[in-house]
Amino acid sequence: MSGLFFCSFMSKPLFAANWKMYRSYAQTIEQCKKDLDLLRRLGANATIDVALLPSTDALSAVGQIVAATGIYLGAQDCSAHDLGAYTGQVAAQSLRELGCSFVIIGHSERRAASDTDEIIAQKVGQAFKAGLAPIICIGEPEAVYNLGQTQQFLTKQLQALQSILSAHTTHHFNIAYEPVWAIGSGKTPTPPEISNTISCIRNFLETEIGSSQFRILYGGSVNQKNAGELKNIEPFEGFLVGKASLDIQEFAHIINMIE
Ligand code: 13P
Repeated sequence: MSGLFFCSFMSKPLFAANWKMYRSYAQTIEQCKKDLDLLRRLGANATIDVALLPSTDALSAVGQIVAATGIYLGAQDCSAHDLGAYTGQVAAQSLRELGCSFVIIGHSERRAASDTDEIIAQKVGQAFKAGLAPIICIGEPEAVYNLGQTQQFLTKQLQALQSILSAHTTHHFNIAYEPVWAIGSGKTPTPPEISNTISCIRNFLETEIGSSQFRILYGGSVNQKNAGELKNIEPFEGFLVGKASLDIQEFAHIINMIE
C-alpha cells in the first residue's frame, strides 16, 4: 500500500488474519484465489482495515493476488538484526520491500520457541526502522489469570518495550492482547475483563511511554459465534484472528458482525 497508509489507518478497527503455519504454500495460494471476490469486498470497506498474514514463503504470491484490493499484507515475525550473517532469518526491510505493512512480533508461539523480551524489543526496533507497523503480542498464561495477576504480568511485558517505544512515539503500532490460555482453546475472557485489561494497557502506553499512535486488538479463540459478543469490548479496535480466519467466509462473518 502507499505511504498514505500511515496517515489515517489508526482510527479504524483492524482485522488481522494470522494464518500461522496451518497451510502449505500451494494451499494458501489456492485459498486466496478461490475467495478473491470476497477478499475484494472486504478490502473495499473503507471503515475497517483488513490484513492477511500468511507464512513468509507465501507473502510475495499473496501480495500479488490481493494487490489493488485494499487488503493489507503482514508477516508473522522478523529478524532482530540488520542485514547480515543470520542464516534462516528474514529482515524487516525485506518484508517491507515485499509489500508488508504489518509484522507480528512476540506472538506467544514465538515467545515459547525462543523469543525473549530483549529479542522482541529488538524486533520492534527493526520493524519501526523498516517502516512496518508491528502487531506486538502480549498475554498472560492461565495460572497468572487464575491468580488475578494479569495486569501485573502485562505491565512487565510492556516495561520490556518501554525504551524502544519511547524512542519512537510518533510511529504507529498495534498491541494484540492475546491471553495464552485463550489461544486455540475455545475459551476467552469476558468482554468486561478484556475492556479492563485494555484500559490498563492503554494507560501504561499513554502515561508511562507517551505513545498515542496505537490500536489495541484482542486475539484468542475469536470465531463467528463469539465475535458479536466480543465486539462489546470498550473501545473496540480490532481482532487478531488465528484458526477461524483460515476460512475466509468465516473471517468475513467475524468482520461483518461488528460493522
Ligand atoms: P486462535 O484464534 O486460533 O485462538 O489464535 C489466536 C492467535 O494466536 C492469533 O495470533
